[in-house]
Amino acid sequence: MESIGVLMPSPIYGYLEQELAKRFKLFNPSNISEENVNSIRAVVSSAKISVDTQLIESLPKLEIVSTFSVGYDKIDLAKCREKNIRVTNTPDVLSDDVADTAIGLALAVLRKICVGDQYVRNGHWIKSDFPLTTKFSGKAVGIVGLGRIGSAIAKRAAAFGCPISYHSRSEKSESGYKYYPNILDLASNSEVLFVACTLNKETYHIVNRQVIDALGPKGVIINIGRGQHIDQPELVSALSEGRLGGAGVDVFENEPEVPEQLLGLENAVLSPHAASDTVETCNAMADLVLSNLEAHFLNKPLLTPVV
Ligand code: DGY
Repeated sequence: MESIGVLMPSPIYGYLEQELAKRFKLFNPSNISEENVNSIRAVVSSAKISVDTQLIESLPKLEIVSTFSVGYDKIDLAKCREKNIRVTNTPDVLSDDVADTAIGLALAVLRKICVGDQYVRNGHWIKSDFPLTTKFSGKAVGIVGLGRIGSAIAKRAAAFGCPISYHSRSEKSESGYKYYPNILDLASNSEVLFVACTLNKETYHIVNRQVIDALGPKGVIINIGRGQHIDQPELVSALSEGRLGGAGVDVFENEPEVPEQLLGLENAVLSPHAASDTVETCNAMADLVLSNLEAHFLNKPLLTPVV
């Protein structure tokens, strides 16, 4: 497979890059030329790399896009379908880490873990005036999207004694958790709302002002989905005006830009879109990308096809 060209539009992960270079002819934007562009048959992307019409059209021999992420919202799927380009992602292997991060953010927001860290580091402990925090155990948890990651969050929250409800585009699941066909009803009956659905036209800004207001001043939102799931200016205003109790945010609307106002809010815990970034999971994701590419070029079934 050494003669097959694979393009990585920007750096993703060292181990993945090394393995790709061993098995394929690895390109990046700086070494593509008119002479070699026709050897590129695959693109390896990530949740931070856009595979748009322009990129797809610029690679006449493109056969497969393999993303190092479970989400594929950065890939123009319609264009891939039109051109018979296959698409793969990396589901399952990251669900535990993303769910761990979601629970970690909920604990950090409610128990003010980052505020406490700053308090100790800044030498304020001596005053002994650290505020009381809020319990997570037993809180009413709402989950938007009960897929693999949403289910992993539910399992963990259940272990904290939290009653679980969810809203999902698909029909009621067999989970036994309470189902709300309307996200507003879910928010009205939740104390901590986790956003874990796929980003598409229906879920864009699924968390809007009404949903935020339904959660109210004691409510907390945790977003490990995509920044575009939440109307970000509304979130920032609600947090700063005390209309929402807190938020744990791993994803932002215009990453890596973060609204200036959010940086100054103690009731927000921020994370750099790193929910799945453990060594173990990144290695497993890289192996899945490599296995999908090898399966494609050996004419075997793809392991995790999207298209
Ligand atoms: C993904 O893989 O799509 C997620 O962004 C991980 O957090």
